[in-house]
Amino acid sequence: MSLIFRVEALAEIDSTNDALKHRALAGAEEGLVLRADVQTAGRGRRGRSWVSEAGNLYMSILLRPSKSPAEAATLGFVAAIALGRLLRALLTMPVRHKWPNDVLVDGRKISGILLESGGITGGYVDWLVLGIGLNLRHHPAEGLYPTTDLVAAGGPILSPDQAMDLLLAEFRPVYEAWRSGGFAAFRQEWLAHASGLGDTVLARLEREEVTGRFDDIDPDGTLVMGLADGSKRRIAAGDIFVAPR
Ligand code: BTN
Repeated sequence: MSLIFRVEALAEIDSTNDALKHRALAGAEEGLVLRADVQTAGRGRRGRSWVSEAGNLYMSILLRPSKSPAEAATLGFVAAIALGRLLRALLTMPVRHKWPNDVLVDGRKISGILLESGGITGGYVDWLVLGIGLNLRHHPAEGLYPTTDLVAAGGPILSPDQAMDLLLAEFRPVYEAWRSGGFAAFRQEWLAHASGLGDTVLARLEREEVTGRFDDIDPDGTLVMGLADGSKRRIAAGDIFVAPR
């Protein structure tokens, strides 16, 4: 069945992910999209906050695919592919994927994805909330990573609504292909544009830091690192930094 979006645009909200999670739990149908001009408590990965002033895109999409939690987790890579395709069409600068779900323009983070899920029925997640932030007119001061926005990168001036429409148009076909065929159809595209592949990277994990060569990603999106002793280390969650040469 083709995915139909129903968009609700809000002036201000704490977090579009949080609001959409409540709607999911209340039984809202797949395809509901919340977009807010401003978020007062925007959330990023790993408990970080996401600065959400007016001008950029803050949106969340409710999805209900028949997927196990592990399969569902690969949707973040597929959403990053949609963002990458859109940004490549709008910009001349190199657009790369940074593990797990970031998109970099000329080495600077321009977007973030926060994928959350809940409930399990018959082995499948009940709902997925795919939160996307895309810097259009401004970007936060550099913290963990260098950052940029669409205009700073030489792209067009887009309103959040225009950017959302373009992104939803890119996202629909990749979501439908992922829903029927999984991440396998997109893994090579992600790798072809991967930042740091083959380079020495530092992985900052919950309780340790690991340095090794970024060799591959597994079919489930796990990062595969080659260590100095010849062994492989698989990283399921963390932050990756390309070591300076
Ligand atoms: C990251 O840390 O890179 C992920 C950032 C995700 C931000 C988006 S903005 C819309 C949605 N609502 C939130 O509170 N977070 C996500």
